[in-house]
Amino acid sequence: MSDGTPAQGPAAGNSRAVTSDQAAPHPRLGRVLARHRARASERPWPAHAAAALAPLLDRLGSDTRPLVLDSGCGTAESTAWLAAHHPDALVVGIDQSAHRLARAAALPANALAMRARAEDVWRLVRERGWPVAAHYLLYPNPWPKQRHLMRRWHAHPAMADLVALGGTLELRTNWRIYAEEFARALAWWCAVPASVVPWAPSRAASAFERKYLASGQSLYRVTAALPPPRRRATR
Ligand SMILES: C[S@@+](CC[C@H](N)C(=O)[O-])C[C@H]1O[C@@H](n2cnc3c(N)ncnc32)[C@H](O)[C@@H]1O
Repeated sequence: MSDGTPAQGPAAGNSRAVTSDQAAPHPRLGRVLARHRARASERPWPAHAAAALAPLLDRLGSDTRPLVLDSGCGTAESTAWLAAHHPDALVVGIDQSAHRLARAAALPANALAMRARAEDVWRLVRERGWPVAAHYLLYPNPWPKQRHLMRRWHAHPAMADLVALGGTLELRTNWRIYAEEFARALAWWCAVPASVVPWAPSRAASAFERKYLASGQSLYRVTAALPPPRRRATR
């Protein structure tokens, strides 16, 4: 099934812009958000999560540096880039794809990349009260078909955990509507100002960013300072 991520490798410069049967933010987004908020406490932990998250628990339990998350890091190129930009932090790249992570280059000492579902990591970090300094979502799968709204991060039940982590949040995407919906969802969840700005970096921070730039695609960025989490703890 296509998720809107073009099939060719990230190095290619012939990536097609996202096409969608949706011309504006999804009309059902507000209803979806309200439903997730009403049911936020009902989500059980999936059975597979404990084993997948054990290495992270080990690592974070003994590391006192500020935490930077790179969710959906792909080949972890951005994880290395973030480690250089946050030298005093521990940068954790998370991706569900073993195939993509297997192509990661060696990371600096203040970074690691792990295979896990990002939504499980967000929930763990939230429940443990680990302070997050910064969180990056670089080019998540757009899921541009209207009927796939619920697969976009901002319409996922895990958005409740994501917005509760605190720190600065940055989303980059090549689909303007995704950025607009994400900004709306941020405003809805935590009343923080979040606007969509065009993004034209001189150097790519990730494999997909490089591919989209090489293809001449328009890119968009949403940033926000999230409210501090309710419960703060030291690791
Ligand atoms: C379009 S790629 C972008 C990769 C990278 N951020 C970049 O910019 O090059 C989206 C990535 O999100 C990952 N992904 C999708 N859903 C995920 C989930 N629930 N948990 C963790 N990773 C996920 C995919 O495996 C894929 O590597």
